[in-house]
Amino acid sequence: MFGGRSTEHAISCVSAGAILGALDPDQYEVVPVGITRDGQWVLAGDDPSALAITDRKLPEITSASGASVVLAESELIVRDPVDGVSSLAGVDVVFPVLHGAYGEDGTIQGLLEMAGLPYVGANVFASAAAMDKEFTKKLAAVEGIPVGPYAVLRAGVSLSEADKERLGLPVFVKPSRAGSSHGITKVTDWADLDDAVATARQIDPKVLIEAAIVGREIECGVLESEAGGAPDASLLAEIHVGDNDWYDFETKYITGGGYDLPAGLPDEVTRQVQDYARRTFTALDCAGLARVDFFVTADHQIFLNEINTMPGMTPTSMFPLMWAATGLEYPKVVDRLVRTALRRGTGLH
Ligand SMILES: Nc1ncnc2c1ncn2[C@@H]1O[C@H](COP(=O)(O)OP(=O)(O)O)[C@@H](O)[C@H]1O
Ligand SMILES: [Mg+2]
Repeated sequence: MFGGRSTEHAISCVSAGAILGALDPDQYEVVPVGITRDGQWVLAGDDPSALAITDRKLPEITSASGASVVLAESELIVRDPVDGVSSLAGVDVVFPVLHGAYGEDGTIQGLLEMAGLPYVGANVFASAAAMDKEFTKKLAAVEGIPVGPYAVLRAGVSLSEADKERLGLPVFVKPSRAGSSHGITKVTDWADLDDAVATARQIDPKVLIEAAIVGREIECGVLESEAGGAPDASLLAEIHVGDNDWYDFETKYITGGGYDLPAGLPDEVTRQVQDYARRTFTALDCAGLARVDFFVTADHQIFLNEINTMPGMTPTSMFPLMWAATGLEYPKVVDRLVRTALRRGTGLH
């Protein structure tokens, strides 16, 4: 399943195309279900190149992409205007390659649980907790993973003078449940705070105000263990923001800033970040996969920034690149994700 209602629709399609291309046709029969920007499900074609970026045109699922699909109990039903109604019986496992709202936040996971269909990645709770930067920090912090100073502004609440003093300037103002740097502002003057909070609230009524951390941006890929033990952590990557001050939307998807893989950190710091990444995965009860993002300061203090339970899986995304550098090529990653999902099944575990 891919596309979806979030702002990361196109990235999701590109990730899905790469996954389609990586699944061994001798082992897997794939049913590509695209979700349009307004939430309709359609049976898309299974040509991976249709989901790639061609001539700078981003892929998009529309209602014209294929016959309509609905989930009824645990069956996918296709309604084709010509061929009529038919059932895609026997779906074993769903790979929800969906980022952000209605995909990475527990909603689709809930639907799949109701249908009794196993799926790749985090369950309802972990998806929702990881999507929400407030609860990510709270759950990680109680397990001893360092997070920077922050304040939570629920709907209608504004920042107290005491919190302004505690956090200091600059601060990052961000929607608690968003992604792709949408709605985030770096504030260097308290006079600009109200506008920044209003911008974030266009996406989420709950807003976080975080003390700005001066440091390098370090990412780590985590995969559920195949043997059922502690999760595995990849080599680390350092993201560069180029001429920009921080990793905003522009830098992420347009200008790019490059990266170092592996990140040039001392072994001891690398091991500590990997340990925090695995522990964050476990603290939130994640499954399958996650990309855990940190800040590392000049004196090697480490702070958790966020965790993504369905990170980008495009050929140039950090998660598959970090695993490839660790020795696990893209098709092996995808295969492992499907197998661990099948083993886990639905329900409590
Ligand atoms: N507390 C912070 N200190 C320094 N930079 C930050 C902080 N919070 C966010 N940023 C910058 O903003 C970017 C996006 O923030 P992030 O919390 O990762 O949101 P998203 O989920 O949209 O990726 C980060 O990659 C980083 O460049
Ligand atoms: Mg981020």
